[in-house]
Amino acid sequence: MKQKEFVETVGGPCRIREDLNRDGMIKGDIIMINRLRHWLRFNLAYLGSPPWDTGITPPEVEQYIAIAKVGRALDLGCGTGTNLLRLAQAGWDVTGVEFAPKAVLVARRRLHKAGYSGSVILGDVGDASILQPPYDLVLDIGCYHGLDASTRARYRANLPAILTDAGTFLLYFHHKIEPEARVGISEEELILIASLFKAVHRQDSEDRFGRKACWLNCTGVIDA
Ligand SMILES: C[S@@+](CC[C@H](N)C(=O)[O-])C[C@H]1O[C@@H](n2cnc3c(N)ncnc32)[C@H](O)[C@@H]1O
Repeated sequence: MKQKEFVETVGGPCRIREDLNRDGMIKGDIIMINRLRHWLRFNLAYLGSPPWDTGITPPEVEQYIAIAKVGRALDLGCGTGTNLLRLAQAGWDVTGVEFAPKAVLVARRRLHKAGYSGSVILGDVGDASILQPPYDLVLDIGCYHGLDASTRARYRANLPAILTDAGTFLLYFHHKIEPEARVGISEEELILIASLFKAVHRQDSEDRFGRKACWLNCTGVIDA
């Protein structure tokens, strides 16, 4: 009888803990599987010619280059380095972060061939430990809006620390039309991003496929 009581007392909490662990593992596994799919999606795209890899710097970035004082620029999700190269040509000291090895190699080769010494880091945009801040410009064309929620949260949390006080965050993204959509930024999330800065300018547009898109120009980080 004593033994049965013992088994029940020990067995109860253990069973509960096993259930919690199993649920926790399932959530963790889903996050890992989604991250792997995200990584595979981009790496497979770079085996061919991804639609975004046009080799052309968008007019919004050209406008920024035309008026901004040169400094240190960080391109998060820099792809094959089109905008790193353009910024380097305009006199910026450039760094890119990209998790697709093929795109990193292409970006490095392009900078090197053109005689620029910028660096292209193979890594995750949510990982601030791979960076050497501060940067005067953080550019993101189409990367943030495809990240999972926890990487987005880490990315946002890093922004104030990696930008100079008067630095600019220039972001191109698609709007989230359906709440469950994997890609896109909702109005609530935009408010979260904007709340990190003193001045925010927003320019809504459409991409060449008719999707609702936007350029956000944020300056002057607010200290936490
Ligand atoms: C839509 S593409 C845009 C590429 C580039 N900015 C351009 O305009 O050509 C998004 C890029 O972000 C990269 N990317 C996505 N998630 C990332 C992550 N977590 N860490 C690093 N790079 C990522 C992809 O591999 C891809 O190159």
